[in-house]
Amino acid sequence: MARFELGETLFTTDEIAVRVRDLARQISRDYEGEEILMVGILKGAFVFLADLARCITAPVRFDFISCSSYGSSTKTSGVVRLQKDLDTDIADRHVLVVEDIIDTGLTLSYLLKNLEARGPASLEICSLLNKQVPGKADLEIRYEGFSISDVSIVGYGLDYDESYRNLPYIAALKK
Ligand code: IMP
Ligand code: MG
Repeated sequence: MARFELGETLFTTDEIAVRVRDLARQISRDYEGEEILMVGILKGAFVFLADLARCITAPVRFDFISCSSYGSSTKTSGVVRLQKDLDTDIADRHVLVVEDIIDTGLTLSYLLKNLEARGPASLEICSLLNKQVPGKADLEIRYEGFSISDVSIVGYGLDYDESYRNLPYIAALKK
């Protein structure tokens, strides 16, 4: 296993909390009077989803989906395999897909096409982070926490080789 250590802190616990509350306020306003079905993308989104949901005032239900992309471990190929599908029928529901980070956007593009075909009443994306990379898939991200440059990061749900997901802040990885 390659050896990495933590680099600089990109977002502190407090900075994340403030931004998460902003997003929750916006979501609560937009969905007023509707029930939201929050769909978390496993595993990375679980920390963000838990904090975000607890700041949302609209009624919320949860489901989870897990997918993996074929190809090398660092480059998304765009060919995605569902590892765990939703438990619920999303037809006529207001679906809010919650993701930790969008890199190339290929995973989410595939997933959205798949979910759209099931006839939800609405389908929106909320991602804590959005990486600025060339050749990004064309995605409309309704709720975005932070835009970042193309660096590898960990913490607050994000992993390196399944480690660091429980770090309460977001840090860069140093080789
Ligand atoms: P995409 O299909 O290229 O957008 O890949 C998105 C997925 O790659 C995210 O859901 C993360 O699981 C993972 N990912 C992308 N960048 C990072 C990172 O810097 N740290 C940890 N995971 C990442
Ligand atoms: Mg992920």
